[in-house]
Amino acid sequence: MHLKLQFHDSAAFAAPLLAVFAVDIATGDDATHSPALLTTSDPLAKAASPWLASGEFKATLGETLVLYSPAGAAAQRLLIIGLGRSASLTIHEVRKAAGVAVRFARSHALHDIAIAFPEDTALDDEHMDSLPSHLTARAIAEGAVVADFDIDFYRSDRKDQGIHNATVLHIEADKKSESEMQSGLDEGIIVGQSQNFARSLVNEPGNILTPTELARRTAVMCSEVGVACEVFSTDKILELGMGAFAAVSQGSPQPPALIVLRYEPPTPPPPDAPVVGLVGKGITFDTGGISIKPAENMDKMKYDMAGAAAMIGAMRAIAQLKPAMRVLAVVCSCENMPDGMAFKPGDVLTAMSGKTIEIMNTDAEGRLVLADGLHYAKTLGATRLIDAATLTGAVSVALGQINAGLFSNNDETTQRFLDALPTSGEKFWRLPCTDDYRDQIKSQIADIMNTGGSRYGGSITAAMFLKEFVGDTPWIHLDIAGTAWLDDQKPWQSKGPSGIAVRSIIEWVRSFASPS
Ligand code: BES
Ligand code: ZN
Ligand code: ZN
Repeated sequence: MHLKLQFHDSAAFAAPLLAVFAVDIATGDDATHSPALLTTSDPLAKAASPWLASGEFKATLGETLVLYSPAGAAAQRLLIIGLGRSASLTIHEVRKAAGVAVRFARSHALHDIAIAFPEDTALDDEHMDSLPSHLTARAIAEGAVVADFDIDFYRSDRKDQGIHNATVLHIEADKKSESEMQSGLDEGIIVGQSQNFARSLVNEPGNILTPTELARRTAVMCSEVGVACEVFSTDKILELGMGAFAAVSQGSPQPPALIVLRYEPPTPPPPDAPVVGLVGKGITFDTGGISIKPAENMDKMKYDMAGAAAMIGAMRAIAQLKPAMRVLAVVCSCENMPDGMAFKPGDVLTAMSGKTIEIMNTDAEGRLVLADGLHYAKTLGATRLIDAATLTGAVSVALGQINAGLFSNNDETTQRFLDALPTSGEKFWRLPCTDDYRDQIKSQIADIMNTGGSRYGGSITAAMFLKEFVGDTPWIHLDIAGTAWLDDQKPWQSKGPSGIAVRSIIEWVRSFASPS
């Protein structure tokens, strides 16, 4: 998709489809609706006015109304998209609505679209707080780019439904606002494409995206954006003493991949500046190993590398956004397979940190690879840690498929992450990770065991296990098992890999950048 910003009267812009946003300015709980367009264009307002007055269109979020050959507009179709109530409007609704415009066009085989930038000046102040133009432009770009993605890569009858040109239209503004909008749009394109890069990795089947292939695609991406990428396999993993990671991998003929990415800012930061370490679970297929999973839904376990993909996607964006700080990423990728060589329940492993682990269930493999990944990231110099992993089915039991789980040993770093969410539009819910849960992982014969004594609080148990390997380093763990794969499509996003966590991690990382 070629996405650009033009300062041009939207009514005079010729395109097969022009999307314009509408809010419901009604207040109160009653069922009345008062839809209003977010444009100062008189011809567009005039063309829409009888339909808005008809009561047919309520401007609820994602609702659409198409007008063909609208009088006074050069576009062939005017697509009015609801943003919901004006009182609760944020950039998230704008992001989604931009996605609705793109998915509408895709399903109607329209390849060129225009989107009218929502002008908050179209309404009286009493109806709406303003949308900051930089963030609004960014949200439009993110929503449009993320919507222009489908999962049918392997279908022979795959049609080119992609958007070729998307033009965001804003009336002429002063130079400062124009450049703010342009930089917002540019950032949004980078972030949206990076989220899609992560999604495209997650979408790949396990036979194609092996650990070696994940490493290869990551290396290609890194050479494109200018990030240092090193890939290691079994020898180095054993040499480093990563006994937990090595054990998970040993049941598969596919070699593991330890992928290390390093982003250096253009100007070297002071030596005491924070170094952020991103650690991702990259199980390219999780059968459960000897503690094998049931057949039903096992196909989904190709997405057990979504944490790794999130980190790789975030690094792609970071390399282009160039925050003034060092960032490194460690991805531990392997398969979890049952085999004569596989690790077994009852085995005792020694992790890179020196801690011994009694294996109770080989299906709790993600925490094992992350244990070594987190420790390794610290040895590489990370002073702030974040990991993302499709770690536990229990997180969906706790939070459903709306919020991902967040666990941390540090309130300050958590607050930074939560502060990033109004920009990223993603949902994370903090769950406890306090030492009173530690008894769950006590082992009789080793330092700890890899599953809890009971099933209760399974996601917390997993987080407590990881906490053993981060020490005092401020750390966040994101359990994205319930949110990394969308079972149903949304009006603004296809079903399949969601790309969750990419946007929030980017924002959180940037919050540590030295002031420029
Ligand atoms: N990869 C799974 C977690 C998962 C489940 C991800 C559903 C996505 C969707 C993980 O490795 C796993 O199997 N965890 C076990 C842990 C248990 C054995 C303590 C689980 O959640 O059942
Ligand atoms: Zn598992
Ligand atoms: Zn797993």
